Amino acid sequence: MTNSVPRSGKTGSNRRSFLKRGAFAAGAATVGASLFERGISASDHDEREDRNGRLTRGDAALLRFAAAAEILETDFWVQYNELGGVQDSEVPGGTGNVAYTNALSVLDADMATYIHDNTDDEFTHQNFLNAYLVSKGAAPISLEKFRTLPGSSASGSSGKLRLTNLMQLTLDTSWWTRYRSDSKNPDFGDTFPQAIPSLAVGRHTAIPRTDSDTSDPNFLQAIANTAGFHFPTIEQGGNSLYPSMAQRASSVEVLRILISIGPTETMHFQTWSDKAGNAPPLTAVDPVTKVSVTFPDLSSAGEDLKANLIMPEPCPFLSRDLPVCSIIRPTETKGIAMGVVKFLTDMGLFIGQSSEFFAVMTDLAQDADSARRDRDRD
Ligand SMILES: [Fe+2]
Ligand SMILES: [Fe+2]
Repeated sequence: MTNSVPRSGKTGSNRRSFLKRGAFAAGAATVGASLFERGISASDHDEREDRNGRLTRGDAALLRFAAAAEILETDFWVQYNELGGVQDSEVPGGTGNVAYTNALSVLDADMATYIHDNTDDEFTHQNFLNAYLVSKGAAPISLEKFRTLPGSSASGSSGKLRLTNLMQLTLDTSWWTRYRSDSKNPDFGDTFPQAIPSLAVGRHTAIPRTDSDTSDPNFLQAIANTAGFHFPTIEQGGNSLYPSMAQRASSVEVLRILISIGPTETMHFQTWSDKAGNAPPLTAVDPVTKVSVTFPDLSSAGEDLKANLIMPEPCPFLSRDLPVCSIIRPTETKGIAMGVVKFLTDMGLFIGQSSEFFAVMTDLAQDADSARRDRDRD
């Protein structure tokens, strides 16, 4: 999550309604079909939400952005599960890559199971949010038209097209020190040093791209370590997104949804934060890109970096005049959705996506950031 989040202004309504039609048309291919069969066009849909009093325009926008984020989250967790998780009837797809799975297990013997369970959770977040939108007569989100990226061709991958790119990641691991600081909070503009500085520069793969990526054990461990730090990096984003959005929910039920899903992202984050600390120290050079990565020994590092300090330190909250408090941070609500889009884009997760994809995500984020709490609602 970025510390200060840029908020771009609203753009022309023609572009916006065009983009909306694009996103909803994609949705119409799946759960949204019935909505369109009833003859409700995307352009008059927001007003209908206001008129029938079932979901405010703002609440629908908050849930739609969350659904889009969960669809993207599901897509990359599926890639991890295909190669390094547990492929079963609950989370089907792929056949597993033994060498990668073994390298991940160096961080914890239960890595494969945790990857499976995290993937399963994201499917349910995505499916629930879209089904809830539909149950309230609101349009769901589908990003299937953007499933265009080639994923890994290593053994174990299903080979299907992807929404997200796990092979050129640049990771901001400053959450590691952010949650260890007892004097700083990103909502006050404070910044934090990286846990793994070399992951914050260059592009790194978190999955074997081809079978040749599994031939050098040291480089393969670097790939697994990168995944081990990508997991908490992404989950701490959801950990902040939900409480940030919840502050502008109008209906108590929408508030309940946001504050019930959000803490499961926190549970993911906490688990992965613990596992990342077990990444073995090493230096490796990507044989394809020549990019170098170094995982320092965090087990003997100082307090801000030490591996086993995974409980959040208390920090200033709301005002430095108040006592410190152990909290999720950041939780500033203004511009949070655009902040998340920027965070994921800067991470390289969307490298290769079309300009239309970025336009649709920006449109969804601007709508979510425009949501205002309706105090008369409940
Ligand atoms: Fe999720
Ligand atoms: Fe998650």
